[in-house]
Amino acid sequence: MGTTRTAIKRIGLYPGTFDPITRGHLDIIQRATRLVDKLVIGVAKNSGKGPLFCTSSRVKMVKREIARLPNAAAIEVVPFNNLLVHFAKDLGASVIIRGLRAVSDFEYEIQMASMNYKMYPEVETIYLSSTEGTQFIASSFVKEIARLGGDVRPFVSAEIAADLKEAFKGERARRKIRLVVRD
Ligand code: COA
Repeated sequence: MGTTRTAIKRIGLYPGTFDPITRGHLDIIQRATRLVDKLVIGVAKNSGKGPLFCTSSRVKMVKREIARLPNAAAIEVVPFNNLLVHFAKDLGASVIIRGLRAVSDFEYEIQMASMNYKMYPEVETIYLSSTEGTQFIASSFVKEIARLGGDVRPFVSAEIAADLKEAFKGERARRKIRLVVRD
């Protein structure tokens, strides 16, 4: 008797705020697609973090970035505004994937995973350690560098760097006006 391949697909969920998506996130995304049949990138509204870009802009940016990846067809980008475990359940995801950069990430991540597990043990959280060169990237630093006119292209794509420049253009102009007024 021959073996029949099951049609069951393993769905992975990679959640984050992605404000904006960095080379570090892309590294995790690329590697995560090798572990699952379909990867859903969950873009959290996360108003608590006071994101620079609105949810729909962040979704557009993530979609644009992943379109360049060889396995883009196996990736979906979906915004969410509810509990992560509820979102994972609705998607039928069996695994939540998170990136671990340094020891400092560990405490927060383990706490989040434990609470998520308590609420919904059907979904496991797994971690991928960031590869060399992306370990120290953080979206908040990227935004600060961009805000102060620095070059962020080592940390984000040229397109995201342009989006950041555009986002801070108005602010720089406003700062200039304030200076002019004060003088
Ligand atoms: N490389 C580079 N940077 C990385 C990275 C990697 N591999 N992985 C994470 N980061 C950075 C991000 O740039 C970001 O930096 P910042 O804090 O300076 O902005 C930071 O690490 C974490 O951001 P991100 O990966 O986007 O995730 P998050 O921590 O903002 O997302 C959620 C958290 C969305 C998963 C969480 O808030 C959540 O689940 N929300 C839903 C509500 C819920 O269920 N709450 C209960 C949880 S127990």
